[in-house]
Amino acid sequence: MPHLDSLILHFDRALRVVSGVHRASRPSPAEGVADRGRDDASRAHAAALMRVNHAGEVCAQALYQGQALTARNARNRASLEQAAREEEDHLAWSAARIRELGGRLSLLGPAWYAGSLAIGMAAGALGDRWSLAFLAETEHQVEDHLTGHLAELSPEDHRSRAVIEAMRADEVRHRESAVALGAADLPEPVKLCMRAMAKVMTTIAHRV
Ligand SMILES: [Fe+2]
Ligand SMILES: [Fe+2]
Repeated sequence: MPHLDSLILHFDRALRVVSGVHRASRPSPAEGVADRGRDDASRAHAAALMRVNHAGEVCAQALYQGQALTARNARNRASLEQAAREEEDHLAWSAARIRELGGRLSLLGPAWYAGSLAIGMAAGALGDRWSLAFLAETEHQVEDHLTGHLAELSPEDHRSRAVIEAMRADEVRHRESAVALGAADLPEPVKLCMRAMAKVMTTIAHRV
């Protein structure tokens, strides 16, 4: 079982995630990148894409926390906590970019968080090998999803692109470290089911 100080840390982080107050440990990759003026429609579209990414990061936070709370192995727990800190950078970077674009965060943040925390804890309860498998597949799907956003974003939107590219590089590392820690390979139907759930989340977060 996690110690009380670790539980307090998780609770503190959960409150910050759902209230949209994020603390980045690394500067945003958009820092120093010129923001070219674009028309309102493409800024609104970029803001909606970043809102989806931010909602995805809220889910990632909750998944990681759920799994860190239930991880049996101390080395795995430390690795999950390190990844969760990097996901918090992603939250802060994407929230900052949404503000710059004049957009807003998803109104359903607390729902994304609660649902993903439950999933993370359920995955954690299956044991480290399966919980890492779930994580590796999640990171893989996020990576694909970010690649899709890069294709959709205006080639001129260098600031959003810098944020998404840095996030994607982190997600690749997160997946690799889950695999290195001994992730099992998930059955194909489970992967398909995860893709379907992610599709529902991203479609809703694009609008709400
Ligand atoms: Fe992330
Ligand atoms: Fe990640």
